[in-house]
Amino acid sequence: MRCVAVVKILKGGFMVRWQWYEQEAEVRQAATQFIADAAANAIKTRHAFHIVLAGGSTPRAVYQTLNALTTVWSAWHVYFGDERVLPADHPDRNSVMAQTAWLAQSPIPRNQIHPIPTERGLEFARASYLQTLAPIGAFDLVLLGLGEDGHTASLFPGHNLGAAENAADVLMVTDAPKPPPERISLSANRLSKAHQILFLVTGAGKREPVQRWMSGTEIPAAAIDCGNGVDVLLDRAAWPD
Ligand code: 6PG
Repeated sequence: MRCVAVVKILKGGFMVRWQWYEQEAEVRQAATQFIADAAANAIKTRHAFHIVLAGGSTPRAVYQTLNALTTVWSAWHVYFGDERVLPADHPDRNSVMAQTAWLAQSPIPRNQIHPIPTERGLEFARASYLQTLAPIGAFDLVLLGLGEDGHTASLFPGHNLGAAENAADVLMVTDAPKPPPERISLSANRLSKAHQILFLVTGAGKREPVQRWMSGTEIPAAAIDCGNGVDVLLDRAAWPD
């Protein structure tokens, strides 16, 4: 495994630690290890592990590896960074993807897994998830993907990212450019309330948004920062020339 690490300080003082691996499989391995370490550290120091899941193909492959971890599963609490407005069992939902890839076989107590109830409509889902998150402080780990247009979670270019300090924790999205148009997303401000933030970025389609991010162009992903910097794992295909 060859890994090249680059640290960049971007506009606004945000620090991004880029770790580039040759192969996508190596990114998956590194991500699994990152999650295992974050869980071990959180459970040791805070006796619980609050993780936010991302949608997307790279995270799915990582979720498939997680049941092999040795960890205190009863300390895990699982949230979602965004969800599409679709029926509860729809295969395009992030919750169904995570369920199929990992959670259905996981010993995490069911009442510690918190899907966003978008099957009941935008308004209900927003209010319900605001309540779910109200007692939760900083997340231990937020996992995020990166879209080809620079979006992350369901925070799209030109839309309200909820990056202001007083922004609501949960946003309703009614016109997402990536289908389906209706989605719920945690705001950039809420996603930034975390001990660690990890982006998983693979494939040639991500080269352009990575380039824009590295050169300081304002893409939605760049609005997320927890004060401790963010970590980005990429494969060679996603790394700009
Ligand atoms: C969604 C995701 C979205 C995703 C990126 C990257 O549900 O649409 O939350 O933000 O993470 O689009 O997805 P890929 O890893 O599949 O490219």
